[in-house]
Amino acid sequence: MYNGKEITALIAAAGSGSRIGSAVPKQFLKIGGMTMLERSVQVFDDCEIIDEIYVVVPPAETESVRALLSEFSKVKRIVPGGSTRQESVGNGLSAIGERQMGTVHASRLVLIHDAARPYVSGEVIRRVTYGADRTGAAIPCVPVKDTIYAATCIEDDGESGTARSGEFLERALDRAALRSVQTPQGFDLNLILRAHEQARRDGFAGTDDGMLVKQLGHPVELILGSYENIKITTPDDLPKDAPEEDFRIGIGFDVHAFARGRKLILGGVEIPYEKGLLGHSDADVLTHAVMDAMLGALSLGDIGKQFPDTDESYEGISSMELLRRVQEMIAAHGWAAVG
Ligand code: CTP
Ligand code: MG
Repeated sequence: MYNGKEITALIAAAGSGSRIGSAVPKQFLKIGGMTMLERSVQVFDDCEIIDEIYVVVPPAETESVRALLSEFSKVKRIVPGGSTRQESVGNGLSAIGERQMGTVHASRLVLIHDAARPYVSGEVIRRVTYGADRTGAAIPCVPVKDTIYAATCIEDDGESGTARSGEFLERALDRAALRSVQTPQGFDLNLILRAHEQARRDGFAGTDDGMLVKQLGHPVELILGSYENIKITTPDDLPKDAPEEDFRIGIGFDVHAFARGRKLILGGVEIPYEKGLLGHSDADVLTHAVMDAMLGALSLGDIGKQFPDTDESYEGISSMELLRRVQEMIAAHGWAAVG
């Protein structure tokens, strides 16, 4: 509750996390022993001005998420998401809107947050809420630190004498006017319901909710977010200093005999040499040792168990393909290799 208004947090967690490449959607990956989704929900659950939390999840996960979040007292509903973020948020807003039917929407603010931003703080939540109370729409942003170029692609067959294919500088954008946009984004419930409805009717797709409100012609206030409030998008965004209980180490070694008439392949690279290594697959001894280390770290046996040489389908197979499968196996257990 803030300034007489009830505050609902809507957490978008229905994505598949394709860019991070893990077998489970990224919001279910653990950071320091807790899933990203739980971390995000926890910050809102702990924040005194938040009254209730709605969570949008992949339709198949509604039951598992209900169990995962059962300890958070403010979580009111788990809502099945859609195929885009905008659709998922729209589903969540409809659920909130339906529940509020007959009551005065104007007395409710909604803070829409991406589960993929687990480092959000109570401070940012409060600043967004104060802004949304003041103007009806408030978005956290941070000034851009890097110089940003618009890029252009040039295809050149080199006939002019110098080949110039690739990406080139089109123009530099005015950094002082650029902001990196974050969540939670705060709105009057009525306003954001109208903005989503209008976007649906117009077939307008935005990558955040502020855009939809701006599209309605309503001003959107930009307030200070936090540089810590990053979105986990690619594997580089995951913390490197995972705490000990989240860390596994494996050791692998392998031995293959040299033989004439075979290719010598190490780490997926063919090395020109008069002899190669004997084996059922391509006998890439280096990649085999790496796979054994990965499997051993998670007690999944070794490559002999996973890819037995009695199975003809592995005859002559590239060990890089086997490595890809091992990577999928460890991802399916919620783990990733870090360098
Ligand atoms: N999201 C959602 N429903 C979708 C797509 C995304 O609720 N259909 C959520 C994600 O779970 C995430 C947030 O929107 O918390 C931000 O989206 P993004 O970072 O793009 O996550 P994903 O779409 O899951 O990842 P990717 O784009 O790499 O597939
Ligand atoms: Mg996405």
